[in-house]
Amino acid sequence: MPNSPTAIRSDQPRGPVTVPALAARKRRAGAEPIVMLTAYDEPSARIVDAGGVDVVLVGDSVANNVLGYPDTLHVTVDDMVRHTAAVARARPAALVVADMPWMSYHLSVEAAVSNAAALVRAGAGAVKLEGGIARLPVVEALVRAEIPVMGHLGLTPQSVLPMGGYRVQARDPDGARSLLDAAHALCDAGCFALVLEGIPDVVAARVTEELPIPTIGIGAGPHCDGQVLVFHDLLGLGAGPVPKFVRQYARLGEAAAAAVAAFAADVRSGDFPKDAETYHGSAELDQGIGTAASAMAPVRDAPV
Ligand code: KIV
Repeated sequence: MPNSPTAIRSDQPRGPVTVPALAARKRRAGAEPIVMLTAYDEPSARIVDAGGVDVVLVGDSVANNVLGYPDTLHVTVDDMVRHTAAVARARPAALVVADMPWMSYHLSVEAAVSNAAALVRAGAGAVKLEGGIARLPVVEALVRAEIPVMGHLGLTPQSVLPMGGYRVQARDPDGARSLLDAAHALCDAGCFALVLEGIPDVVAARVTEELPIPTIGIGAGPHCDGQVLVFHDLLGLGAGPVPKFVRQYARLGEAAAAAVAAFAADVRSGDFPKDAETYHGSAELDQGIGTAASAMAPVRDAPV
């Protein structure tokens, strides 16, 4: 039974995680919660996969976390293809899901399919896109083109301008009802899983209870079928305070800055490199190069 939820429990040997195996992960069916984490390059994908996650998300949050942009609106299809290909080169056992960037699925269904295909060719096993009812024609076309789609509802960062900032969504009954309707519609259109971001826990619990596909929460409480965080938030690699929903498991940014400061101090004090950190030549080489080096010395020492 390769697709049964118990077939991919973390205490069993890991094979490649497939879309059907992931789609079968509803907690009420006795499956373990899904673990998803972002990665944007080969080294981070290797680390994330070694940690045993189920899904590596090549998020468009690469914009804020790696490329120095203030929001995700600046990321292009070319950016996402490059980062997806880098992640795929780590050959993770986890399913690689690539974010479709802003404007890559808004102009026409044909353009959306072509852009999603570029991400699949770069190594994605599925794509993720943000939004509700307005996205149904694109989701249906992608599914017809054999491209698995993960939906994304709630606080959708690509909607930062109309939302007027990054705000918790579906806080009133009308908002919650329209999110629930959109979740059902995306599921009916063929999404195999749904990210729920920045919504009250009760709304996420209701969506999770009603949908036959797994929900993966970020800032959506504990009742989803899985959880996702951003690599840089989890490891303390970002700048500034992290949002309320983040649990930081390390402070690698501080550790890295301390290591760099120690290196700078060692270079400036002459402590680095030591003899053991230096390649040595033969006596003949030392003699020959020593002559050349001493001939250069006056030039190096000349005042500028
Ligand atoms: O791009 C991203 O990191 C995401 C997660 C926040 C779900 O979409």
